Amino acid sequence: MEIEKLNRGQFLKTLGMSSKALMAFYCIGAVSACSSEDDVTPNNGNNTGTTGNTDSGVTGTTSGTTIDFTVDLSNSKNSKLLTSGEFAIFGNVLVANTGSNNFIAVSKSCTHQGTQLAYRKTEGDLFCNNHGSLFNTDGSVKKSPAESSLKTYSASFDAAGNKLKVS
Ligand code: FES
Repeated sequence: MEIEKLNRGQFLKTLGMSSKALMAFYCIGAVSACSSEDDVTPNNGNNTGTTGNTDSGVTGTTSGTTIDFTVDLSNSKNSKLLTSGEFAIFGNVLVANTGSNNFIAVSKSCTHQGTQLAYRKTEGDLFCNNHGSLFNTDGSVKKSPAESSLKTYSASFDAAGNKLKVS
């Protein structure tokens, strides 16, 4: 006798659960993905980011009040930043490639409750997956609950030297 495999949704439907009850079921354990901000979906295609790479190809100060560092983009740990839409975290700073060798650098933490942000190229913004705040690439708030802007830094790319200076 062949055993038919059901996915979780099909299984629950066989139990007679409504779609709302199903949604509630799915939201247990995945609260942040099921808020009323469901229209805000992170672009996971190209924004996984690079973390933990401050020990390689980075010189200078990446945290504190005097941010000033240089990233060697020829280093394999950082080279993904050469791709449009990619972002990386260096200390307290999120650096993103917005295309055509243009970069932005902003404070990495959401000003609402401090969650680390993600850059979304398609939407042209920075997304917080905690409560759905959005920031424009100039650091200003695009969508609450965050109310304060991000800190911004200058990010200048030296294509000849393959280096990015953030200060
Ligand atoms: S921590 Fe970012 S929206 Fe709440």
